[in-house]
Order: sequence, then C-alpha cells, then structure tokens
Amino acid sequence: MTVVITGASRGIGKELINFFLENNMHVIAVSSNPTKIKAHSQLKIISADFSHSEEVFAVADKIKKTTKEVNILINNAATLVSKPFKDISVSDFESTYKVNIEAPFFFTQQLIDIMGITKMAHIVNISSMGGITGSAKFAGLSAYSSSKGALSILTECLAEELKDKNIHANCLCLGAVNTEMLKQAFPGYQADVNPKQMAQYIGNFALDGHNYFNGKVLPVSLSTP
Ligand SMILES: NC(=O)c1ccc[n+]([C@@H]2O[C@H](COP(=O)([O-])OP(=O)(O)OC[C@H]3O[C@@H](n4cnc5c(N)ncnc54)[C@H](OP(=O)(O)O)[C@@H]3O)[C@@H](O)[C@H]2O)c1
Repeated sequence: MTVVITGASRGIGKELINFFLENNMHVIAVSSNPTKIKAHSQLKIISADFSHSEEVFAVADKIKKTTKEVNILINNAATLVSKPFKDISVSDFESTYKVNIEAPFFFTQQLIDIMGITKMAHIVNISSMGGITGSAKFAGLSAYSSSKGALSILTECLAEELKDKNIHANCLCLGAVNTEMLKQAFPGYQADVNPKQMAQYIGNFALDGHNYFNGKVLPVSLSTP
C-alpha cells in the first residue's frame, strides 16, 4: 500500500509519515523542506514548493512515472496568514489560496489516474474547524479559513465526481493541535491534542474511514460548536 502525504517536514505531516511507516506502508512525502525529513527505506521524499502551480504538476508527474498505484492521498500541506481582514494583501491571499486550495485541487486531479485501480482508494483532505459553516470563527484568519472552507466543499464535489471510480474522498476539519501553525494563529495557546495523537487519528481514518464515509466533512475537535 502506498500513501502520499503533502506537508511533511513538521507538525501533523511529520507524525503521519511515522504512523504509516510503523504500519509498514510505502510513503511518498512532498515537502518544501526535504532535508528536515529522516530517511527510511520505505520513504520517498519529493521536494516541492506548492505555492508554485508548476511544481504541483511536476510532483504528480514524478509520482505517476514511478508508482503504479496510490492507495491513500492526504492533502495536509497548508499555510496560514494571520492579519486583520483589512490588512490582507493580494499576495497574502494568493499565497494562502495557492497552497491551501489550488495545490490540493490540481494535485488530486493529476493523481486520480493512479488511484482506485486494484482496491478502493481514499483521499483525505485536511481542513480546519474554521473551514466549516456555523463553527466559531476567529479574527485574523479570513484568508486561511475561507481557503479551508473551499477545501471542505471540494471534498463533497470530489465524492460525487469520483463515485464510479473506486475512490472515496473525505475531509477532516481539525480543531487545535500543538504545532507551529497553531503558535502562529494563537500565540501562547496550548491545545489538548499533540501532533502525534492527531496523526494517529488521521492515519487510522485514512486506512479505514472510506469504508464508512464518502464526501463527508467531519469536525475533529473537542470544542463546541
Ligand atoms: N495545528 C492546528 O491547530 C490545526 C488546526 C486546524 C487545521 N490544521 C491543518 O492541519 C494541517 C497540518 O498543519 P500543522 O498544524 O501540522 O502545521 P505546520 O506545522 O505549519 O505544517 C504545515 C505543513 O505545510 C507544509 N507547507 C506549507 N507551505 C508549503 C508550501 N508552499 N509548499 C509545500 N508545503 C508547504 C509544510 O511542509 P514542508 O515544510 O514539508 O514543506 C508544513 O509541514 C494543515 O492543513 C492545517 O491547516 C491544523
């Protein structure tokens, strides 16, 4: 079994690599900081900056040339800008949307050719509680949260379009996890969940969740609403 994970040098992505290697899977990690990732015989690391569209397509091409089938795709890479709405520049907006929605959109589009060939494949999009309608929203996160909202809806669209292709797609909308991104969004805040715990949850869901869910946008959070 082969899993592709984007955003892999730190935080939840780094722990996802460990989870899947411990489960004896072949892992392809896409990272803009490849030197920070520890080598392993079952791990292939591909360097890419997903804020550049052409790199998204180039990575997908590389994977298609060397891999017969991808069983799990986890679109985990994301970037966050924390600024008041009125201060968000076109460049802040574009860089956020490039990494958080354009990259997973086209990366998934390119990889579906080699998914669901011999067994049901699972696309897991990592969104945020901020990317669900009706959840609490926080000042400063308009670009980030709206990009995550787009990823949540994309998941519903994918489930519909791919329903005859032996590929299920689901979206996990995470609450707070202690990572660099959380520090950037909420300096000084300590979450109850660490990246390893969240990676365990996401990993198990990626392995089995497609047998129970398709096109679902699922909150994974201790907070209410
Ligand atoms: N932590 C939370 O509280 C929280 C809450 C809700 C949702 N999430 C979501 O969980 C996922 C993982 O986030 P995290 O908390 O682990 O944050 P993180 O530590 O900041 O990690 C984000 C990852 O995204 C990748 N990335 C960022 N810009 C990139 C670019 N231009 N090209 C390629 N990769 C890029 C980086 O990977 P490389 O360094 O390998 O390139 C980095 O490892 C994200 O989708 C995030 O939105 C997190």
